[in-house]
Amino acid sequence: MSVRKHILCIVGTRPEGIKMAPVIKALKCEPWARVTVMTTAQHRALLDQVLKLFGIKVDVDLNIMRANQGLSELTERLIAALDANLAELSPDVVLAQGDTTTVMTAALVAFYRHIPFGHIEAGLRTHDLHSPFPEEMNRLVAGRLAKWHFVPTVNAMENLLREGIDDAHIHLTGNTVIDTLLDTACSDWPLNIPLNPNRRLILVTAHRRENFGAPIRAICRAIRTLVNRYPDVEVLYPVHPNPNISTAVRAILGDHPRIYLCDPLDYAPFVEAQKRAYLILTDSGGVQEEAPALGKPVLVLRSETERPEAVEAGVVRLVGTDAVRIVEEASRLLDDSTAYRAMARGVSPYGDGQASRRIVSVLRNSLLRETSASRIGSVLTDGHPARREHVVQA
Ligand code: UD1
Ligand code: UDP
Repeated sequence: MSVRKHILCIVGTRPEGIKMAPVIKALKCEPWARVTVMTTAQHRALLDQVLKLFGIKVDVDLNIMRANQGLSELTERLIAALDANLAELSPDVVLAQGDTTTVMTAALVAFYRHIPFGHIEAGLRTHDLHSPFPEEMNRLVAGRLAKWHFVPTVNAMENLLREGIDDAHIHLTGNTVIDTLLDTACSDWPLNIPLNPNRRLILVTAHRRENFGAPIRAICRAIRTLVNRYPDVEVLYPVHPNPNISTAVRAILGDHPRIYLCDPLDYAPFVEAQKRAYLILTDSGGVQEEAPALGKPVLVLRSETERPEAVEAGVVRLVGTDAVRIVEEASRLLDDSTAYRAMARGVSPYGDGQASRRIVSVLRNSLLRETSASRIGSVLTDGHPARREHVVQA
């Protein structure tokens, strides 16, 4: 009888693909692991391009996405499809990353089926159930049900400890997004957008549900004002396909000669765009993690963040969605080179590129009942000596 452990890796959206890819690759190198990759395809095109880029072969495709899907119907379809497939596959472990509806339902269905669940990027919190919506609820549910909590930072670990999670189940690994970023950013990638190298590039992304309606319109008005005010500035905005976002963006920004609206970029060209950017405006979680590591200032188009580390380091600022405030904050960075340099420092509070190896090491030790994971200090605990014992050796 095989002693190999069956690990089911579930991915649903673009960022889950980006952040799960290095874990899947590392697990596939382990002789004790049999890996099944399941996609819910909560995102279709956005996820497919990421999986293709990283050469991840999908074993089971639930093909869930519908145009402009609502949260309840999405949840209903995910639970039904995940449950049928977990019953059939009966894995030893279910592994998922982040705070999407795919992740919340994967944790719930694994719980109903008595299958242990590993949560990657655990412990992020804004402490506001309604923002980001529905992600804060999704991660609370996943966090309540997980057996392994792979936290990216000390702050995330402390959130879980405050919620009463046993610290024996919390593993400080860093965020796998930095594993992927470092692998990708070391090469140059074609961008295929006719950018003018003599202009300063502002890169923009937005997709959050809290920003549907008036906030996304205000963000677009601010972008238009900025481009009109600064003739040496151009904007690249890969527009998320969610119609609640794309309709407003194309209506307000579609006709400006220095604003390039495009479909979502493949991951590698998007990293290239971040490298070329002077400044980034975003409501994305992943971009808040990547841009600081690339030394790019970020203005976050939200009023809170579950990623306070880069804000505390002074390289990310929360500016909300008021058009006047966005224009003021961006103008400061465009006008004042000292203020700009203070934010354009390469810092990486979210990881050192070894998170996937640490996650695999924890699973190996735990599932094979070997000696418990070696616990040593590392760069991840800078300034937090009391937490050094939680860091997993890469
Ligand atoms: C989802 C996640 C969000 C995550 C984000 C990453 C939920 C509820 N939301 O938000 O947490 O931060 O992904 O991008 O889990 N669409 C396409 N093609 C695609 C992807 C999306 O056309 O490849 C359109 C479809 O009309 C779809 C809509 O976007 O119905 C919304 O997709 P959905 O996954 O529900 O929400 P996102 O806003 O993408
Ligand atoms: N990204 C991409 N192409 C784009 C925009 C973003 O590949 O056109 C990547 C980005 O580098 C980051 C991830 O997508 O790794 C973030 O995804 P998103 O903003 O959709 O979700 P969030 O991180 O907010 O959950």
